Amino acid sequence: MKVLIGNRELIYGIVNAAFKSTNITPTIGEFGVLDGSNALKLYDIFSPQSMYLIDSWSSDMTQEYVKNNAHRPWVDDIEKYASYFGGSLFDQSTFDRLFDKVTTKFRDLANVRILRCNTNTAIPQLVDITGSSLNFDYLYVDASHQYETVLDDLLGCETLLTGC
Ligand SMILES: C[S@@+](CC[C@H](N)C(=O)[O-])C[C@H]1O[C@@H](n2cnc3c(N)ncnc32)[C@H](O)[C@@H]1O
Repeated sequence: MKVLIGNRELIYGIVNAAFKSTNITPTIGEFGVLDGSNALKLYDIFSPQSMYLIDSWSSDMTQEYVKNNAHRPWVDDIEKYASYFGGSLFDQSTFDRLFDKVTTKFRDLANVRILRCNTNTAIPQLVDITGSSLNFDYLYVDASHQYETVLDDLLGCETLLTGC
């Protein structure tokens, strides 16, 4: 196994060079979008054929996190991340503001589609929308950071990626 340590833009640039050298205009996606800043970087660097942005933008995620981790004293109090999210994670308005930022950022880009749902329900939807599985060239997985959910997301994404 090789581990590449570098900032994200550097890694996107390297992957994009590989796409260019093989004449691929990629279909890409981001799982976990927050305010869309990273998604915009991905869009600018990859100039994708199409891009899919998946995020629940929902405080239900907070309730689930609290419930699932109540018995795990080593897991951070989720409100520790309030400043990163721009407000309390128990308030739906925090997520609505993030969603509005994303829709504003991508408003004029017809090849970008935003799915407001949990990652587990997004995967079958993406298969339906794109007409088949194995359609994606690059997926950035950064939604839940809970072990089991990350594993679900990675296994689900494997079913969407070309060449897998
Ligand atoms: C770490 S942030 C994403 C940051 C973004 N990728 C970036 O680099 O700027 C995680 C995002 O995932 C979303 N999220 C968490 N669990 C999710 C789930 N199970 N399904 C969909 N979205 C989820 C949250 O709403 C939040 O916006």
